[in-house]
Amino acid sequence: MNVLIFLGAPGSGKGTVAEILAGTVDGFRTVSSGALLRDAVKSRTEAGVAAEATIARGELVPDQLIAAMIGDYLKGLPDDSSMIALDGFPRTVAQAEMLESILAANKARLLQAAFLDVPRDVLLFRLSGRRLCPKCGAGYHISTLPPKVAGMCDTCNVELITRADDQPATIENRLKVYQQQTVPLKAFYEDKGLLTRFDAAGEAGDVARAIAGDLSKWRTAQA
Ligand code: AP5
Repeated sequence: MNVLIFLGAPGSGKGTVAEILAGTVDGFRTVSSGALLRDAVKSRTEAGVAAEATIARGELVPDQLIAAMIGDYLKGLPDDSSMIALDGFPRTVAQAEMLESILAANKARLLQAAFLDVPRDVLLFRLSGRRLCPKCGAGYHISTLPPKVAGMCDTCNVELITRADDQPATIENRLKVYQQQTVPLKAFYEDKGLLTRFDAAGEAGDVARAIAGDLSKWRTAQA
């Protein structure tokens, strides 16, 4: 199994770009650590209950908790999964070290960390306009990806919601936490020769195409 890390600030488009790749590249899967946690909160699992308040404050849940969730997820993947994108994990140097053990246990190899670089004003614009369908999980943006009928999901016809942590004060805190705890990962992967920067301020489709164009190069380099 080949693993690709999506590294970037909240709103840099990690989820959007990973989903485009999953829909366009054969054998490409993606898992979002944030989505795993939100599902756990919704299902009221022990981990979800423990993580709920932390997520609402825009802080990081304990390294062990999210590493265990990602480890379980990877263990459960079918053998045919040729490529898995980790969207939002690791987010601290401690998590990156835990990932090394997880990869070894699953006979997986890390291809690259794709760093999506987006200026702060664009991040704020994207996060403040994001809307979600509470039923099917489809994502929208009030300006760049609006639903056909304002405020309603195109598929489910239910009212769209704003993610609890997309409130202005929480967005600020998430960006601060990103600077303090996640930015050091850039140097961590750069030192290993495993970091590639992508200008991700433009169209998500262009970013996905740029990453897709590098996949075979990374596969060869890590073979
Ligand atoms: P998580 O869900 O991972 O949130 P995040 O990292 O803050 O990232 P986002 O989902 O907000 O942004 P994204 O980069 O995926 O952007 P998106 O594609 O959605 O984590 C949530 C919380 O869970 C954390 O705060 C923490 O508490 C906890 N957590 C998660 N992982 C953890 C970990 N490893 N350790 C500890 N705690 C963890 O795009 C955003 C918007 O912009 C959308 O509306 C989209 O339509 C739009 N958009 C995207 N790309 C473009 C583009 N190119 N052009 C125009 N619009 C775009």
